[in-house]
Amino acid sequence: MERDVLLTMLFLIIPLFFLPILGSADPLYTFCPNDSRNYTHNSTFQNNLKQLLESLPSNTSVTGFYGTSIGDNPDTVYGQALCRGDVNSTVCQNCIQNASQEILTRCTSEDAMIWFELCQVRYSYQMFFSLMVYTGKYLDDQNNLELNVSDPVQFGNVLKYLLNNIANEAAFDPSKRMFATGEIKFSKEDTIYGLVQCTRDMSGGNCNSCLLSAIGDLETCCFFRQGGVVLSRNCNVKFEMNQFYNSSSLVLTYPYSKGAKWKTWMVVVVTCVPLLVLAILSGSCAVYHRRKKRAQPDDEKSQNALLHELARPTGVEITEDGELVPGSEDLHFMNLLTIRAATDDFSDSNKLGQGGFGTVYKGVLPDGKEVAVKRLSRRSWQGLQELKNEVILIAKLQHRNLVKLLGCGIEGEEKLLVYEFMPNRSLDFFIFGLFLPLSFLLAFIIFQIGHTNCL
Ligand SMILES: *[C@@H]1O[C@H](CO)[C@@H](O)[C@H](O)[C@H]1NC(C)=O
Ligand SMILES: *[C@@H]1O[C@H](CO)[C@@H](O)[C@H](O)[C@H]1NC(C)=O
Ligand SMILES: *[C@@H]1O[C@H](CO)[C@@H](O)[C@H](O)[C@H]1NC(C)=O
Ligand SMILES: *[C@@H]1O[C@H](CO)[C@@H](O)[C@H](O)[C@H]1NC(C)=O
Ligand SMILES: *[C@@H]1O[C@H](CO)[C@@H](O)[C@H](O)[C@H]1NC(C)=O
Ligand SMILES: *[C@@H]1O[C@H](CO)[C@@H](O)[C@H](O)[C@H]1NC(C)=O
Ligand SMILES: *[C@@H]1O[C@H](CO)[C@@H](O)[C@H](O)[C@H]1NC(C)=O
Ligand SMILES: *[C@@H]1O[C@H](CO)[C@@H](O)[C@H](O)[C@H]1NC(C)=O
Repeated sequence: MERDVLLTMLFLIIPLFFLPILGSADPLYTFCPNDSRNYTHNSTFQNNLKQLLESLPSNTSVTGFYGTSIGDNPDTVYGQALCRGDVNSTVCQNCIQNASQEILTRCTSEDAMIWFELCQVRYSYQMFFSLMVYTGKYLDDQNNLELNVSDPVQFGNVLKYLLNNIANEAAFDPSKRMFATGEIKFSKEDTIYGLVQCTRDMSGGNCNSCLLSAIGDLETCCFFRQGGVVLSRNCNVKFEMNQFYNSSSLVLTYPYSKGAKWKTWMVVVVTCVPLLVLAILSGSCAVYHRRKKRAQPDDEKSQNALLHELARPTGVEITEDGELVPGSEDLHFMNLLTIRAATDDFSDSNKLGQGGFGTVYKGVLPDGKEVAVKRLSRRSWQGLQELKNEVILIAKLQHRNLVKLLGCGIEGEEKLLVYEFMPNRSLDFFIFGLFLPLSFLLAFIIFQIGHTNCL
């Protein structure tokens, strides 16, 4: 009678969003081992079992976990029920009620277990409290959880990090609820949500090892999927790409290892420095030889020659010797007005960053191409020769997948270098990170050495 009133009330007050959960009245899985003893109809065991199952809903709803036994040997029945840690007592009681009814109709074995989305019920003729025997069951017909993820390796790493952390939290949480949920960002759009829970008769250590086994099973079946569930007697693990639980959860961030970053740095340094040294050495030697050949009498005249050479309005090509010659399709001297227009007159809103050698702006050329424009600071010691060196250096490195130099512009005090725009961080690194200051330092030193050694 009371139950009917409660159910009616529930149905009246249930908001629409909760209907799908209530609607999931089917068990996730039922375990009635056919090698176990069967109880006979109207036996003492069956009566004890019925009595036990009747006591479970109300008793479990108090804390969400309950274990008891009824009857004397040899007809003793041991029973245990657990509700998911994020449901209230009303939902818990209702779920255990259904689970108890279902297990009676589905099984005749003297040992059985049933799992619902929000609760589980287990009984046996044997005492099983506090005993952990792991056998995991993966559910493989869950709605859209079969969909594969795009980057399975990284996904697996992030997911494992999440589950291991919440497993630890659940096992060793001083509140002994043995339940934890957590979320972790996998990409800008995607977050992974995880849930782990143990039956509270487990020790912390047993809970943890149960969860680790379940995570291991989940890894084999589902770590490349958008969701998965592993059920076992003493613990459950579940993850999905949307927040399927209703509780505050641990928010984790994946620690992208510093070691890996350092390795990338090492590779960059180890491959670039010798390249740079080579490029600069040959460049500066060539320039020195060329200077010598030309035998320019004084510096001012050579500066003028350089300016003339650099300011040539048509394309230029850079030879193996680091010479600028007319005719290249790739490198263009750009009109200052074009560059001004592209960067909205070097507006602050287009500023990408500031480095020791100038400021970098984002720009859009008339043909729609996105570029990064480096405006060399006027007070920079980078004179024409250095500008030329940089042009040569970058041009020589262009085949090495570095930032591509598209052109440059020189007018009076204004010295501009136009690079291909790369939206990721590598651009910062190469344009105003360590790369160029380092290369200039090297260029400067080697140029000086070149003066004396390249005879
Ligand atoms: C319990 O069973 C009833 C009747 O089968 C069903 O309508 C209800 O949604 C179920 N509740 C839960 C929590 O599974
Ligand atoms: C028990 O069920 C399994 C499949 O669920 C079956 O392979 C096995 O033969 C059954 N054993 C008996 C004794 O019925
Ligand atoms: C128990 O009953 C099931 C069917 O209800 C049967 O498959 C199984 O073999 C029985 N187990 C034993 C041990 O007799
Ligand atoms: C079950 O057993 C009781 C006595 O133990 C008996 O009174 C009752 O009629 C039996 N019911 C059925 C359905 O066999
Ligand atoms: C469990 O429930 C039964 C009735 O369903 C009640 O008599 C008993 O006191 C309860 N036990 C506990 C520990 O709450
Ligand atoms: C579930 O979340 C809603 C709000 O989203 C909250 O009002 C409700 O109490 C929660 N239920 C449980 C069982 O935590
Ligand atoms: C329990 O939770 C359900 C859904 O989250 C909600 O509809 C119901 O009002 C809650 N009951 C209590 C007693 O908090
Ligand atoms: C997902 O990946 C698994 C294993 O890599 C493959 O067997 C399966 O066909 C894939 N499923 C889909 C829907 O792509």
